Order: sequence, then C-alpha cells, then structure tokens
Amino acid sequence: MCLRHYEEFIRSGFYKVHSREVAGCFSALLDRPVEVGEVVRLEELMPKPSLHRVFNSSLELLTGGWPTPLLKVSGPPREAYAKLEWFNPFSASVKDRTTYYLIKSVGGDRLVEVSSGNVAVALAALGNVLGKRVKLYIPTAGRYVAPLLDFLGAEYQILDVSMTVEALEHLQKDIREGAVHPNQFGNDMNFVAHLRTAAELDWQLSAVDRRPDYIVAGLGTSGHASALGFYFGVRYGTRLIGVQPRDWIPGIRRVETGMKWLSLINAEVVDVSLREALEGVREFAKRTGLLIGPSAGAVYKAFTAQRRDGVYVLIFPDNLMKYTPLLEQLR
Ligand SMILES: Cc1ncc(COP(=O)(O)O)c(C=O)c1O
Repeated sequence: MCLRHYEEFIRSGFYKVHSREVAGCFSALLDRPVEVGEVVRLEELMPKPSLHRVFNSSLELLTGGWPTPLLKVSGPPREAYAKLEWFNPFSASVKDRTTYYLIKSVGGDRLVEVSSGNVAVALAALGNVLGKRVKLYIPTAGRYVAPLLDFLGAEYQILDVSMTVEALEHLQKDIREGAVHPNQFGNDMNFVAHLRTAAELDWQLSAVDRRPDYIVAGLGTSGHASALGFYFGVRYGTRLIGVQPRDWIPGIRRVETGMKWLSLINAEVVDVSLREALEGVREFAKRTGLLIGPSAGAVYKAFTAQRRDGVYVLIFPDNLMKYTPLLEQLR
C-alpha cells in the first residue's frame, strides 16, 4: 500500500514523486495521471466549490458538490462539528465517495458487490451513469433498499444471511463468469477515497480556525473512520473514536468481524446499542430538527457520553429517510 508516501504527503503538505510506483499512488489519490518528477501538493485534495452550483452532469454533482456541509452542533468545552454526508447525491450517504473511487479503480462493464444498503444504491446509480451493469447481493437486513434498486434498474438477490461479509461467497460464481468485484471490504481505494474526505474536512475546519482533537465515526468496512483517523492523526495527533454496535445498527459492525484498515490507527472503540442510537437520533432531531440515520445517531450518542474537553468532529454517514420501513418494524 502507498501508506508511507501518503503519510509524508499529509505531514509535510507536499511530496516529490520519485518513482513509477509512487506516481501510481498519487494518481489514485488525486484522481488524475501523476508523472514521475512532479511535486504533488495537499491543496490539490481540497474542494473547489462552485458558487453558483450549476452542474453539467450528475457525476459532476457528486465531485463538484463537495464539500458536504459541516454543522456546528455544540460549543466549548466539548465543541463539536458534524459532517453531513447525506448531502452526497446518489445514495444520500458517505458511500457515494467510496463507490466513486472503487468503481474508477476497477475495469470491466459488469460489476458484482455485496452491500447491506448504501453501497448497493451508490453502485447501482454510478453503474447507470458510467454504463456498467451491476449485480448486488443484499443480506436480509438490507431489504429496505430493494425498491430503490428496482427504480435504478440494478439486478439484485436478497440472501438469507445476517451480515454483508457472510454473503461474499455468493459472488464467486459471477466473478468466474467475468464480473468484476469492486470489493469495498478489501480494495484500498475505499481508504484512499476518504483521505480526500479528510482533506476536505481539514479545509472546512481551517475556515473556523479549528483542529480536531477527536474524530467520532461509525465502523462498517472501517474505510471512512480509518482514513480520517489516519489523516488527522498524522497531521494534528487527533484521536479516532470508532463506534461499533453493541447489538445491531444498520451500516456498522463489530470490530471482531474483521476490518482491513482500522489496525493502521491507534483507535478507541466504543459500543452503542440500537436503542441508544435511536435515542441519539431523537435527541438530535429535538435539538436541530435534522433527522440523522441510525449510525449517525450512534455517533452522536457516543459523543454525548464523552467527558474529555476539546474539539470533536462527528461523521454522520446518512439521514433517516431510507430507514422508515425498518423503523415501522421496530414500533
Ligand atoms: C449508514 C452507514 N453508516 C456507517 C457506515 C460505515 O462506513 P464504512 O464502511 O466506511 O466503515 C456505512 C457503510 O456502509 C453506512 O452505510
């Protein structure tokens, strides 16, 4: 992996590309061809928002729509800013970013993936935009996205398994028949995608003259939490507080189920139950009027349990809208 080059790049703000291997690392990160001998700069990762917000395509709406908003949710001594990732246009979640980088990193015109929700929607959507056929395997718990996949025209199969990772073996047949597997659990572009998310967040925080002491983020593949923990850890010594479900919360998993990138970071991991996560959703809705998703509710709850003073950034992966069928079942 390109990690030690990225580490130096993040620490010093620039990097002289000295080999073809390193050029490959930075081409992937900067989403453009990078030549040997070039000096790449961290500013290139910062967003360049368009003031008028006129976009020429839905793909441009994704990348040109960044940064997603950062909302101040509490003042000192535990000052907190929430990154509202449902402002991404395809799956209305943080997973648009992951999926965009994954899809660009693999070839092929037929893709197959396992997802319990947001990646399925993002992949079906981006498949339409980029002219790729998409097949998805959905664990039972992700059933609520099926109508969305119908409208997007993606092929899917709902499996009688409880976890996304358990469904991986079903992919093998499609892969043997020529489909390409972007592999959100193992493809390092998942992690790389969120180094850009981190640079974007750094840029936003600099506007209010803040550096985070803590990042609080949910753990699924661990892609976004690990990359944010890595970037801010290298740059400012920030600590990652990863949130895992005590029982079950859609979108996040327990660390012992296996996560590729979390081991790169010295993170703290806290448990939140579904009941507490939904309490977090309710409390946040009462305070701000915003309906955040269950994993965001878990992140918010983990933040409110903190007693250490400092600046916190909370990553809210999505909002509550697509979970209404699920919430009906819980009533
Ligand atoms: C709603 C929600 N929250 C959190 C996560 C976890 O994100 P990651 O896979 O980057 O760890 C996901 C991932 O699918 C998600 O859909």
